[in-house]
Amino acid sequence: MHTKLSSVISDINAVAMGEAKADLLLKNCSLVNVYTREILPSMDIAISKQRVAYVGDDASHTKGEKTTVIDLEGKYVTPGFADPHVHIDQFVLPSEFAKKALLCGVTSLFSDPIDIVSVCGYRGFREFLNLCSNLPIRIFNVVPGGLPVDRKFSHSRTLSASQAKAAIKHSSVLGLGEVFSWIKVTNRDSKTMKTISTMLDNDCIINGHTAGASGKKLNAYVSSGILSCHEPINYDQVIERLRLGMWIMIREGSIRRDLKEIIPSVLSSRVFTDRLMFCSDGLDPVDIDKYGYINYCVKEAIKLGVEPIEAIAMASKNCFDYYNMDRDLGGIAPGKLADILVFDSLDELKPHKVFVGGKLVVSNGSIVTQIKKHIIPKWIKKTVKLEKFSEKDFVVKCKTTVANANTINLKTEIVTEKGTAQLATKDGNVLPLPDKDVWKVAAFDRTYGSKKGTVSFLTNFGAQIGAFASTWTFHENDLIVIGSNESDMAVAANNLIKTQGGMTVVMDGKTLASLPMQLGGIISTDPFEKVSNNFINLNSTIVDSGCRFSKPHLIPLFLPFLALPDVRILYSGIVDVKKRSYLPVLS
Ligand SMILES: [Fe+2]
Repeated sequence: MHTKLSSVISDINAVAMGEAKADLLLKNCSLVNVYTREILPSMDIAISKQRVAYVGDDASHTKGEKTTVIDLEGKYVTPGFADPHVHIDQFVLPSEFAKKALLCGVTSLFSDPIDIVSVCGYRGFREFLNLCSNLPIRIFNVVPGGLPVDRKFSHSRTLSASQAKAAIKHSSVLGLGEVFSWIKVTNRDSKTMKTISTMLDNDCIINGHTAGASGKKLNAYVSSGILSCHEPINYDQVIERLRLGMWIMIREGSIRRDLKEIIPSVLSSRVFTDRLMFCSDGLDPVDIDKYGYINYCVKEAIKLGVEPIEAIAMASKNCFDYYNMDRDLGGIAPGKLADILVFDSLDELKPHKVFVGGKLVVSNGSIVTQIKKHIIPKWIKKTVKLEKFSEKDFVVKCKTTVANANTINLKTEIVTEKGTAQLATKDGNVLPLPDKDVWKVAAFDRTYGSKKGTVSFLTNFGAQIGAFASTWTFHENDLIVIGSNESDMAVAANNLIKTQGGMTVVMDGKTLASLPMQLGGIISTDPFEKVSNNFINLNSTIVDSGCRFSKPHLIPLFLPFLALPDVRILYSGIVDVKKRSYLPVLS
């Protein structure tokens, strides 16, 4: 992945001494030093074997005939930015995401491939590592720590204990991803404790997820060696965790944005920022184009009053300190990998140039390096194991003329509550009631080929469409179909069999919008721009037709998500999350 420091110590030592010559010399930099919180003017940086060999006011002794010299004319130079917690197994291939990240100055991604593992297990994990390899960006991965979400109901795939042990031997696998369920930790669930022990024995990092935990429960969780959390949404939660020795990733992504709430209170309380970072937890194609990425977090933090160098350290040094990688990354100093950003100003924070391992990858706001296109195996593009649907697959049988149905009422795209509706039946089938915003909603197993499914009812969707279907869900991977009539529901489901995954909108038998996601049914193999256009078109088709929510793609994504209240749908049935029991479709 990169040259190990141990293999090049003599080479870069010799360059520092001027007894060997640098590959690259960056002259006349205004160097943002994240170690001393200084901006040092007129500095030179000599780079050899992908690493910084010398930093000082005159590197002329490192210049040889073959040294590339770039005069940066006083521009600001910072370490590359990192996203310490992101799910990049969504929407686009890692190679496509890498382009957008690099243009925003993000040179390291700490990826948690929970989605692809939940669909394809260890085989998918290994294939995903392959898709992350040999790219001009550093992608580190963790073994997903949140699966299964709930052993009683979940049918997601995960890694076995022996597979997790094998996975952490891979040089780019750093440990265990967000351990969702702090209850499993505070209850000392034997499987969870065994996994955590294995990680600790192997000096691995364990990422946390402590939404709702406090006091003795938070203490118990932290005592297990889980030292980070990206869930705090306010100052009280941040400070309680910092006081217990945790590291905080301030989340600013597509599902939640917490920066504007947290930063002002951090500033007014003069919190020590060395254990604060920014993370996205996942970005959709629209948001990364609209806002930017970690560079946006730095910019916004500065706007809110954080010292620029401090904000830059939060986006760089602090992340690598947390991951115990500070010998290799985090600042611009001798021995460090030369991941360097060049800025005209620290206001806009759009990098003019980006170097990864001393290689120029972005110049004048464009990618200037080849990005490898990986060969994608056929098996991972065949995960929608379903047979052609017809209207009768969406029938809810009932012998009476009127049925009392339990419904899933959408409070937001994400949060649901239990409801009821009185519905008419026709020919033994309970009908949806689109005029009253009562929809049919169905979940089908699409990864095991069991042909099992559940059809139920959903309210408060509001769109004037025939059907909306998706294969991307957290983290059960059912095919979800929401519809105002059975015929369009069948067309939508069949569309996704044809594309082997993605999202689709259907009206009167016609397809209005489509976002194919062939890889595992969750990632498109298309270029970023095409995916982005399809995504915009899909959401706007639903929103413009009257949907009550601005991000309708999140509805099927969260409908089976067992970590949130109140009611969820799986192919195995409707789950009352609080009672941890199945709910009948008709009461
Ligand atoms: Fe996450």
